[in-house]
Amino acid sequence: MNVQLEPIRYDPRGCFIDGGGISSSDIESLAPQLDAARAEVFRDLDLWRAGGPIPADKQPLDAGFMDLPDRLLAEYRTQHETSELGLILAAAERLRETVDRVVVLGIGGSYMGARAMMDACCHPYHNELSRSERGSRPRMYFEGNNADNDAVQGLLDLLRKSARSKSTADRWAIVVISKSGGTLETAVSFRVFLHELQASAESGGLLLGELVVPVTGSEGKLYEMATALGCRDVFRVPDGVGGRFSVLSAVGLLPAAILGLDVVRLLEGATIMNEIFRTAPVGENPVLDYVGVSHLMESQRNATIRVLSVWSKGLEAAGLWYDQLLAESLGKNEKGALPLTVVNTRDLHSRGQQHQQGRRDKIITNVIVDSFRQDPLEVGQQQLNYDELNLLSAKTLSDIMYAALEGTNQAYLEDGRPTTNLHLPLQNEASLGQLFQMLMLATVVEGRLIGINPYGQPGVESYKRNMNALLREDRTI
Ligand code: PA5
Repeated sequence: MNVQLEPIRYDPRGCFIDGGGISSSDIESLAPQLDAARAEVFRDLDLWRAGGPIPADKQPLDAGFMDLPDRLLAEYRTQHETSELGLILAAAERLRETVDRVVVLGIGGSYMGARAMMDACCHPYHNELSRSERGSRPRMYFEGNNADNDAVQGLLDLLRKSARSKSTADRWAIVVISKSGGTLETAVSFRVFLHELQASAESGGLLLGELVVPVTGSEGKLYEMATALGCRDVFRVPDGVGGRFSVLSAVGLLPAAILGLDVVRLLEGATIMNEIFRTAPVGENPVLDYVGVSHLMESQRNATIRVLSVWSKGLEAAGLWYDQLLAESLGKNEKGALPLTVVNTRDLHSRGQQHQQGRRDKIITNVIVDSFRQDPLEVGQQQLNYDELNLLSAKTLSDIMYAALEGTNQAYLEDGRPTTNLHLPLQNEASLGQLFQMLMLATVVEGRLIGINPYGQPGVESYKRNMNALLREDRTI
């Protein structure tokens, strides 16, 4: 595949500092171990592809995410509308034409990627715009990720209000996403929202099966429910793709396509990252370099906190997606760094002090958008110059943002605090596809490097078991 895309770029130089940092020769010394971890990750993929029994020490093994973008694109290019991606695009178009609001139900890996894409790539006030301003792309809401009574009631209020009118622009639909099909928070929300949708579909003369699109495994309670409801479109979370590694399957692609995002570009971005990861040596490989720096900072400098410092409000949800990916994948056997997303310049006024002069237990990765999408906004001249900003009248908000970034890196350097920079050419689908794939690959490489299976989440299973047992004992708080 020969796709031209501007690559995202990882620049670790700000962590090559005396005292609190590491050196480039440390990374060079680690290169053989990084190469070995990469080789193991590819052996995992081969093992998974072979479809035979998985050895006990490798279980669970969800390596299927690795070549998923390549497989989806190849199938789309040969089979067009009958391919998985073709079907996703068709279902998304159908929903866009039928409804104006889509409620996405899911928790953890089943919704965080979609939220990240909406926040990064849509208009920041997408849901507030009129249907025509949104280009007939539906509003989107995320639920089923909690058991919060008032939050659910609030969304139901909104849906009821709009459902009073019968025009297309006031209809709504549900996309319910759960790989297991049995996660309680999502299942309960589905029941509640389905009840509401039943009433609104009947009064609008619509079939429920047209308004509910499940994304789930090939069996389980949600799958059975989808069959009983006669859902016109049902998508699968592919075998061998775990929840937090599923953003580039129907789990993320369907909501993204409903929002009218360029999912082909998103997947192309991921395939480019796959190619770089497979071929580039340490020093030119963002995945291996990021893992190397993070690992060395943790093992040599006790930097157990990984701050993802995003310099764009629209990337906060992408940061939270990564928080979940890293925490749930490597936080096992008393290992695994603590991920923390901050949004700057906002959080310089809440966390900046601690990051600069608190404990020396952090490595900061700045995520920097190199060009903004909208025209630069100038400070401007003002007759009432009490704020004395006329001096800066020709400066733009981007000038201020980049000055804050440079100023922060400089201040951290003076205090011996290591920073690295991850550059996204633009905040768009191509960059996000690369970013998602880079961070998923980095997580599994690091897992293999430190001897932690990055797949599965055994700890979370206990809370689910306890919660279900308590509920069935009928004990109220
Ligand atoms: O990464 C994971 O596997 C989890 O975060 C899951 O995505 C989350 O628990 C939701 O699971 P399910 O999709 O089965 O409802």
